[in-house]
Amino acid sequence: MCGIVAYIGHRQAYPVVIKGLQRLEYRGYDSAGVALLNGELSVYKKAGKVADLAAYVSDKNLNGTVGMGHTRWATHGEPNDRNAHPHYSESEELAIIHNGIIENYAAIKQELINSGHTFKSDTDTEVLIHLIEEVKNKTNVPTEEAVRLALGEVIGAYAIVILSKKEPDKVIAARKGSPIVIGVGKDEFFIASDATPIVEYTKNVVYLNDNEVATINNGDLTVRTIDNEMKVPFVQELELKLEAIEKGGYDHFMIKEIYEQPRSIWDSMRGRIDAQNGRLRLGGINEFEKKLTNAKRIIVVACGTSWHAGLVAEYLIEDLARIPVEVEYASEFRYRNPIISEEDVVIAISQSGETADTLAAIEMAKERGATIFGVCNVVGSSIPRATHAGSYTHAGPEIGVASTKAFTAQVTVLTLMALQIAHKKGTITQSRYRSLLHELENIPAKVEVALKSNDKVKEIAARFKDARNFLYLGRGYGFPVALEGALKLKEISYIHAEGYPAAEMKHGPIALIDEEMPVVVIATKNASYEKVVSNIQEVKARKGKIIAIVTEGDVTVKKMADYTIEIPETDDILVPLVSVIPLQLLSYHIAVMRGCNVDQPRNLAKSVTVE
Ligand code: G6P
Repeated sequence: MCGIVAYIGHRQAYPVVIKGLQRLEYRGYDSAGVALLNGELSVYKKAGKVADLAAYVSDKNLNGTVGMGHTRWATHGEPNDRNAHPHYSESEELAIIHNGIIENYAAIKQELINSGHTFKSDTDTEVLIHLIEEVKNKTNVPTEEAVRLALGEVIGAYAIVILSKKEPDKVIAARKGSPIVIGVGKDEFFIASDATPIVEYTKNVVYLNDNEVATINNGDLTVRTIDNEMKVPFVQELELKLEAIEKGGYDHFMIKEIYEQPRSIWDSMRGRIDAQNGRLRLGGINEFEKKLTNAKRIIVVACGTSWHAGLVAEYLIEDLARIPVEVEYASEFRYRNPIISEEDVVIAISQSGETADTLAAIEMAKERGATIFGVCNVVGSSIPRATHAGSYTHAGPEIGVASTKAFTAQVTVLTLMALQIAHKKGTITQSRYRSLLHELENIPAKVEVALKSNDKVKEIAARFKDARNFLYLGRGYGFPVALEGALKLKEISYIHAEGYPAAEMKHGPIALIDEEMPVVVIATKNASYEKVVSNIQEVKARKGKIIAIVTEGDVTVKKMADYTIEIPETDDILVPLVSVIPLQLLSYHIAVMRGCNVDQPRNLAKSVTVE
């Protein structure tokens, strides 16, 4: 987590840095700071949001064409002014910003204290810049060389940027495990955690690799590995568009992203399916298609919303392609000595492509010989680079912390994947294959119709915005949707919500049901419809309030439920793509009505680069 941004060139650095921090605020927002080189190495930092920092520095000297900034999601040390980045070295001649964790910081700190260093914060980051200075003083090497040598001593993950008071033409950056993108302009360079702060200035970027140190000195960019091997920076062109990272008239990124789904789902299928000619081709997996079709077992690893998409994938792949699938929380999988063989295929799902636990799970499975596929949204991020092959979801940048369009894009790509494998293996009939391809092409239009439920959903939100608990129920393909609906609500409105398989309710949650309890049920027409109807009766018998997501034209559930939201009919296996829409809207409106910060919910971060 944490967002970092830096600038060196002919412009004033502060406006670039502060705007960059606003773009990166989704990565962390408990404190923020900037450092500027203007004869001095001035550091200003403050607990709170980037806007608080901007207000705090408004009367300061913000001159300088070299600067850097940081927005923090606390790991070591509580979020306060002291622990905010940047951090100075002992002499205050160097300053650092850091995204990641230095695991062996305590031992290094003790050694530095023994040799006379004093620390002003509780952070691991301050230890690193003191270490760099110590190495520099002892070895008398250039700062970038001291950075390289010091990083050889640390264990952990980092994306760092360093400025030096005595070297006003130099910026040093390094990465291991946390992302860094360098924008290459005309006589200017931009450094950031992702491309969003860079895109309006240049389309030419270099993605720094793990264990690389980049030095920008007098207008030249050089890259060396920690082992001192020279690298030629690979400049590539960004596809990101500026409009994609702006609110475009919406109140929040989340609602903009919810409404983008007809397009983002389509973008995730574009060029990949052609229903009329019965064609389906996920480019990224061609080379490994045999591995997939012959897989004895598929293991899905993911976290959060991506894990819910993984659960949908389990149902899809087992249903269509008849391959056993296990869905694992990456954080559990990586630490529990799982059985993995060379015949296993691991599918890693991640919006950001940076989630630390998912990355570590991939590395572990790779070491044990499995083939790894990535399903990621952020192009060039760490997970796609760590996998053997994969398919991008083309949802575009997702900035709201609660994931919406990334989920539907993931489910879309996973559906294509399941269908392609099933078709190759011959586990589905030609006519089912064809009809699913046709129905997939209809999904964006059906999502469009589901979005029309917005006003109705708003009324329901107003009725239940003060509820203390919510229960979400679903069966079959409706179950992962229930989990995702509950997660959305708790993430942004801070109402406790649980997602449950509808039938499993009677083994626990049913005890919670009374006249105060709203119960959201995915009750669309499908194989388990009759069973879900019985579950609704069980809730009604205990006076719970039913909010049912039903198929257009439904009469049975309508008679029983307190509120119904209609969505267009679709194939059972595609129901998650349409039924999740009203649940996203419900959580959004409840959060807005409760006055919550929808795009930046407390304690959360979009990209979790710590374990
Ligand atoms: C965080 C985000 C969630 C996301 C999860 C996994 O918790 O707030 O929205 O689902 O990380 O992230 P990933 O980028 O790997 O999908």
